[in-house]
Amino acid sequence: MNNRAPTLYLYLAIYIKKRPLSYSCYTYVITFYNTIVSPFPLFQLNMSSFQIIVGSMLGTTEYVGEACEEQLNNLNHQATVHLKPNFSSILAHTFPANDEINSTWLICTSTHGAGDYPDNIQTFVEDLKNCEQDLSSINFMIIAVGDSNYDTFCKAGVDINKLLITKGCNELIAIKKLDMSKDIDPEDQAQAWLYQNSDLL
Ligand SMILES: Cc1cc2nc3c(=O)[nH]c(=O)nc-3n(C[C@H](O)[C@H](O)[C@H](O)COP(=O)(O)O)c2cc1C
Repeated sequence: MNNRAPTLYLYLAIYIKKRPLSYSCYTYVITFYNTIVSPFPLFQLNMSSFQIIVGSMLGTTEYVGEACEEQLNNLNHQATVHLKPNFSSILAHTFPANDEINSTWLICTSTHGAGDYPDNIQTFVEDLKNCEQDLSSINFMIIAVGDSNYDTFCKAGVDINKLLITKGCNELIAIKKLDMSKDIDPEDQAQAWLYQNSDLL
C-alpha cells in the first residue's frame, strides 16, 4: 500500500464533507482527485512474475523450488515452477506477447558429480549458452544447494551465475548458497531469504 494514499483519501473525505457541494465544488473535487489522489491509489500492488527453474537429482532442490513458489505467492507475486526446464517454454513465459511485465528467473539448483549440473537442467544450460537472443532484460537470482565437504561446493549455481552475467542478464540479489552438510532446513532458509529481500523483488 502507498504510504501517502490513506492521508490523501482522508483529506479528500474532509474536503467533500466541509464544502457545500455546489456545481463549482464538484469541479474542485474532481480536479483535486485527478491531480493529487489518483497518482496514489489506496492499494498499489507491486506484483512481479517469476520463473523458478529447478535443477535437482534427488529431490531436495525440487522442494526448495516449491517452497519458493509458495513464498513468492505469499508476497503477492506470480510464480511458475519448472521441474523439467525447457528453454523455449521458459522464454515464452518470460516474454509473454500480451504483457509488458517481463519475468525474473529464480534458478534453484543443486550440484552433482564433481561440480556438475543435475541431469534435468543440462539441456536448459546448453540452450542458454547457445542462445543468440538478447536476454539483457532478464533479472535473475540463484539459490544453490550443495555440500561444503566437496571442493566444488555449489559449483553448478556459481557456474550458471557467471553464464547469466555473460549473457547480459541482471543479477538482482547475490547468490544464496545452502549447505546441506549443516543442520539446516533448506526450504525454510530459502523462504526466509526471499522474505528478507522482498523489497528487491
Ligand atoms: C554423487 C554426489 C555428488 C555430489 N557432488 C557435489 C558437488 O560437487 N558439490 C556440492 O556442493 N555438492 C555435491 N553434492 C551434494 C548435493 O548437492 C546435495 O546432496 C544436494 O542436497 C542434492 O540436492 P538434490 O536432491 O536436489 O539433487 C553431491 C551429492 C552426491 C550424491
